[in-house]
Amino acid sequence: MGELSVKWVVCAGLVATLAVGGCTAGRDSTTDRPSAPASQRAPHFTPGAAGAGDPYFPTYGNGGYDVAGYDLALRFDPATGKLAGTATITATATQDLSRFNLDLAHLAASEVRVDGRPATSRAEGNELVVTPAAGIVQGRPFTVVVRYGGVPEPLNNEALGKGGWFRTDDGAFALGQPESASTWFPVNDHPSDKATFRLAMTVPDGLEVLSNGVPGRRASTAGWTTWAWAENTPMASYLATVVIGQYRITTTTHAGKPMILAVPESMPAGSPAAKSIARTGEITDFLASQFGPYPFDANGGVVVADDRLDYALETQTRPVYGDTFFSGSEDTGVVAHELGHQWYGDSLALHRWQDIWLNEGFATYADWLWQEHEGKRTVAQSFDGTYAKFTDWSEPTGKPGPDGIFDPAVYERGAMTLYALRREIGDAAFAGLLKSWAAQHRDGNVTTDEFIAAAQQASGGRDLGPLFQAWLFGTTKPPRP
Ligand code: ARG
Ligand code: ZN
Repeated sequence: MGELSVKWVVCAGLVATLAVGGCTAGRDSTTDRPSAPASQRAPHFTPGAAGAGDPYFPTYGNGGYDVAGYDLALRFDPATGKLAGTATITATATQDLSRFNLDLAHLAASEVRVDGRPATSRAEGNELVVTPAAGIVQGRPFTVVVRYGGVPEPLNNEALGKGGWFRTDDGAFALGQPESASTWFPVNDHPSDKATFRLAMTVPDGLEVLSNGVPGRRASTAGWTTWAWAENTPMASYLATVVIGQYRITTTTHAGKPMILAVPESMPAGSPAAKSIARTGEITDFLASQFGPYPFDANGGVVVADDRLDYALETQTRPVYGDTFFSGSEDTGVVAHELGHQWYGDSLALHRWQDIWLNEGFATYADWLWQEHEGKRTVAQSFDGTYAKFTDWSEPTGKPGPDGIFDPAVYERGAMTLYALRREIGDAAFAGLLKSWAAQHRDGNVTTDEFIAAAQQASGGRDLGPLFQAWLFGTTKPPRP
């Protein structure tokens, strides 16, 4: 399935009403006839959907618009746990909108404006329903300003754990997958709607604030300091992070781009965590030699020491690492994994959560490549070891179910799938595929079908259907490749 058919799926409901704007740029992709401009037809305003339509998580995200950017001006008071401020969201309507939803959990909006005019809003569960003073015609850009606040809380997913905003003794941190952003700002919380992200976060003097992207100007008044961060490359919402507390920040440049590394101030300078993330530049260079140019304009990483954080996350340009990875000794494997995600997962984001092996299988494979580069074990040895000890083949990598998106079937079997593909099409074609896949879909969203098509093309037109069927969708152990 190629790019066109995927776009068609996204816009399917709109074709009849002549798609414009974010969907098909004025062309009806199914018939290739030019479509009439929105101004030449009578608008038919209907509410945007309350979910983005992901079969695994139907309530995540929303329909009817496409966000271009979030601009947040927030203040966090560690003494009370209160977060408050303004979100300015620029978006484009993908249908004639009578109203639309934003995802916002446990926080209250006190004022909403659409294009400067007061809009009515009400909370409905973890959604903010916004009704603008007048309908928004499909294809029209619009700006939503939400003043909001409250004491944020994480979201709990029974199977996958907690994500979102976590308050700490002296600050807070926010991250999580598959959702987290809605616990601290109004958002279209689904990876299919990427957007730029700017944050100005005001905190008491003496605390540090880390977030995505490049640092901006810092300003202090009356005991409070505002930290500015900007991620200018469109980002999936779950990749937004903020970390507030006492941190030791190291700012350098790497390959001409800002490199911001941070560890808790309480952590000794030569600690395994600090030493591991200090190799971020070196690991990025190695991965760039395998995957192609590093896709973002900043880099770095943050170590968070908190018992509630037992994972690491590929938050764009600045992965967050739970300190459990570094207990006792250096671990560059997890760093290679999260940096691998910058290409596969972040630059190439998911279109739907079912395809998460495109993130985790590739990031696990990135770790295998790094281990080989480090002289620890070859990729073949990583495969062999994993293949020998892998027991549960009943869960399909390409269809793990909503509760299984972080299972070994996704990570380990996903990486094994890539190795099986490499054996099938040869080292050179496979190495070319890793790069062309990343280059072709840079800053985009991808699906498993698109990867299969790309692999078949890289193989010179071989039918790889049986290989992917066995490795991604089979429920028994495939033969050794
Ligand atoms: N994507 C993360 C990684 O790179 C895993 C996140 C796990 N999340 C969770 N809620 N357990 O490994
Ligand atoms: Zn991962």
